[in-house]
Amino acid sequence: MKKIQIINGPNLNLLGKREPTVYGNTSFENYLEELRAGCPQCEIIYYQSNVEGELINKIHEVGFEYDGIILNAGAYTHTSIALHDAIKAVETPVVEVHISNVHTRESFRHISMISAACKGVILGFGLDSYRLAIESFL
Ligand code: DQA
Repeated sequence: MKKIQIINGPNLNLLGKREPTVYGNTSFENYLEELRAGCPQCEIIYYQSNVEGELINKIHEVGFEYDGIILNAGAYTHTSIALHDAIKAVETPVVEVHISNVHTRESFRHISMISAACKGVILGFGLDSYRLAIESFL
């Protein structure tokens, strides 16, 4: 059984309510049920925080033990060298995920501080981006 940690960053607790034209109408908790049902061969553990340091703590906590980390760092993607360093510091591969295609949006979203530290990046497929990231670990 593969152990995969999903980490969602700031404002992603509001999925389903937040800017539905960009992020859709489904809450992450509802989507998670679907994701788990579609992947019986993995244990999917979910964590969300709006606090940068807590995201870093979670990466440290699971990053020497789990088989994969899927990280949607939200807006910290575009600002956080500390997250870049945390990803580099652990052994577990991290896949960066975004729901929206950030390259079609504001120019400040075109830069990622974390991509170079990640194994790969999946973006722009809506919530399905998370399923595609799981596939990459199988
Ligand atoms: C996001 C894109 C980020 O630019 C934004 O700050 C988010 C969500 C996405 O999943 O599309 O909070 O990471």
